[in-house]
Amino acid sequence: MTTTDLAPFTHPGAREWTAPEPIASARAFHRTLDGYRMSPLVEVPAIADELGVGRVFVKDESQRLGLPAFKILGASWAVATALALRFGVSLDAVSLEALRASMGDSSVTLVTATDGNHGRAVAHMASLLGIRARVYTPKGVSQAARDGIRTEGAELIESDAEYDDVVLAAAASVAGRDSELLIQDTSWPGYDRVPRWIVEGYTTLFSEIDEQLAAVDAAPDIVFVPTGVGSLIQAAIEYYRGVSRSRPAIVCVEPTAAACVLASLRAGELRSVDTSAGSIMTGLCTGTTSRIAWPTLRDGLDAAVAVEDGSVRAAVAEFTGLGRDVGPCGASALVGARAVFSDADVRGRLELPDDAAVILLSTEGLAANPLP
Ligand SMILES: Cc1ncc(COP(=O)(O)O)c(C=O)c1O
Repeated sequence: MTTTDLAPFTHPGAREWTAPEPIASARAFHRTLDGYRMSPLVEVPAIADELGVGRVFVKDESQRLGLPAFKILGASWAVATALALRFGVSLDAVSLEALRASMGDSSVTLVTATDGNHGRAVAHMASLLGIRARVYTPKGVSQAARDGIRTEGAELIESDAEYDDVVLAAAASVAGRDSELLIQDTSWPGYDRVPRWIVEGYTTLFSEIDEQLAAVDAAPDIVFVPTGVGSLIQAAIEYYRGVSRSRPAIVCVEPTAAACVLASLRAGELRSVDTSAGSIMTGLCTGTTSRIAWPTLRDGLDAAVAVEDGSVRAAVAEFTGLGRDVGPCGASALVGARAVFSDADVRGRLELPDDAAVILLSTEGLAANPLP
């Protein structure tokens, strides 16, 4: 992509869009999981001063249900829903105990492709349920992330292919095998139910933010979302444009090496990009946007920016200096905020108040994805 292609994109009026249907909540299920608690929402006045805004809050996903990233929110709900439907457990009463009891001795294997965090989350669910998992990884996934997946007892299939190709390989591997369930966090023609449940699972994060901000008498004006295949940002848009009382601007942040949402927004249709250059933001290094996310992003997303590895590396170090555990994907949100707030034109187009409340989603801790 050229420098012009990578310039910030804005969509005036996107904030007025309303999701066709309110997105379902998975929070009641998450509350049944051992160790569930709201992840911290930490105010960082030093960053607010630097950006020239009212308040900055960092949603810290470095410890979520025992894992160092937010992805377990989606994987847990998708696995629970898929198994509940297969084994006849009511979704209103679904819990790990109910699933274990209804599965009995049936042998089910969960299968997925991952650039790290999602695969670990699926493997963790399999381990909690006492079933098998098989996880496919592309090139560029850190040793720590691969070790994390193995620690959960999953079979790891490593390859040197790009993420998009590994997703295809995982999908092909389950064909014709009734006992294997593909739990993928992105969708394509003919595969949309599981990714939908994953998106629903992510809304827990946003409903927590609403509750946490209400407690300090604040409401979000703008939310920066680290973006890979786009399921997390789909959840953000459908939550804020359908469920929440707040209507913040929502900004997609991608690595310059994998800015597929930006490319699609510019083209006005889904576009894939070449990700072979790689990025330290491993979880965001995906070349194709989830098919079910696209209409929501096209209509309801306010802005998209692309960020460089070098700036993200520096931001990780700054967060460490502030005593915060923020991995590269998480730190991309701050770099995205700098891109928006340092550009008077972009800031103006987003029509933000001078004392804006800014939310940065720190989607992983350093343990999920240590700096290479
Ligand atoms: C740490 C982290 N942040 C953000 C994302 C982006 O989520 P999505 O792929 O749904 O856009 C991922 C995806 O793997 C991730 O691992």
